[in-house]
Amino acid sequence: MSKHSKHTEAGLTAAAAIDVDEITGRRRMRRTRVADWSRRLVRETRLSVDDLIWPIFIIPGTNITEPIDAMPGVSRMSVDKAVEAAKMAADLGIPALATFPNEEMDRRDATGSHVLDPDNLINQATRAIKKAVPNLGIITDVALDPFTDHGHDGILRDGEIVNDETVRQIAAAAVHQADAGADIISPSDMMDGRIGAIRRALDASGHQNVAIMSYATKFASACYGPYREAIGTSGLLKGDKRTYYLDPSNAIEAVRDAGLDVDEGADMLIVKPGLPYLDICRALKDSYGLPTFAYQVSGEYSMIKAGAAAGYIDGERIMMEKLLAFKRAGCDGILTYFAPEAARLIGKGLG
Ligand code: PBG
Repeated sequence: MSKHSKHTEAGLTAAAAIDVDEITGRRRMRRTRVADWSRRLVRETRLSVDDLIWPIFIIPGTNITEPIDAMPGVSRMSVDKAVEAAKMAADLGIPALATFPNEEMDRRDATGSHVLDPDNLINQATRAIKKAVPNLGIITDVALDPFTDHGHDGILRDGEIVNDETVRQIAAAAVHQADAGADIISPSDMMDGRIGAIRRALDASGHQNVAIMSYATKFASACYGPYREAIGTSGLLKGDKRTYYLDPSNAIEAVRDAGLDVDEGADMLIVKPGLPYLDICRALKDSYGLPTFAYQVSGEYSMIKAGAAAGYIDGERIMMEKLLAFKRAGCDGILTYFAPEAARLIGKGLG
């Protein structure tokens, strides 16, 4: 006696007689996947060292390398150490660095006025790195958050982050950063009109060749936590940044907002954070065709590091897969704390 029901018997008989060629029409996708040489031949997207921008954190002092608890493997560096790191990055073939300062608390005030000091930490770092490694690109942020005592990216007046006054201040800061030798000004503050203002200020000061890489779509994300520890703003921030960063729900608004930056003269666009916003990466690339970058932010980095440290995931493979995802989504490059690690793997042919 059969242990199957009649229906099961009929199913098994049908399965044995299935003509798979008839279903596939002989179009078999696995043919090109059959061997390594063939997979390499049909590969559509590649990650290269040329795609990597390395964000680094600067602190006052000399000969200091201070690990950041929330970002395993990342340290704040004094300017001299940052110069060494810049040389290492250049040797690895990384095209550019993005610098972020952790300024002393007594330098921070309600208006972020120290951003206008031509000799602040960020400008010191630019000068020193440019002198030592002239062919490495330097990207500086003009947002006020490292300079305010409330951790916001703009000037706070009566409980409001005021737009136009902030824009004038960051446009002035951009001039100082360009004077110090920055190649690309990269405002991450999300104030309205800042791209046009920075462009005008740069042009008026003879910096026509200094480019603007706009944080065109920056979302009010939970992924920035470790960065705020890195620059010392986590304890300072009152409230949140939802009155100026984009709502994570809004893709159409994000594309419109980026369009204004394009009209105002942005040369390149950033999507931030990265992986949760791959749809935005694709949309911006397809809409504007500008060089488009994803910022794989601190929280994205730390999640991979934590998962790998716990033994739950293969950290290196996850890192490379996620970096590749940005390329597939249309990005020309990625700002990533993994830049040196990824560059080494790519250099060994493991990319
Ligand atoms: C703010 C700024 C942020 C980051 C860089 N500049 C976001 C924030 O603190 O709100 C985040 C970078 C990261 O998380 O890696 N201008």
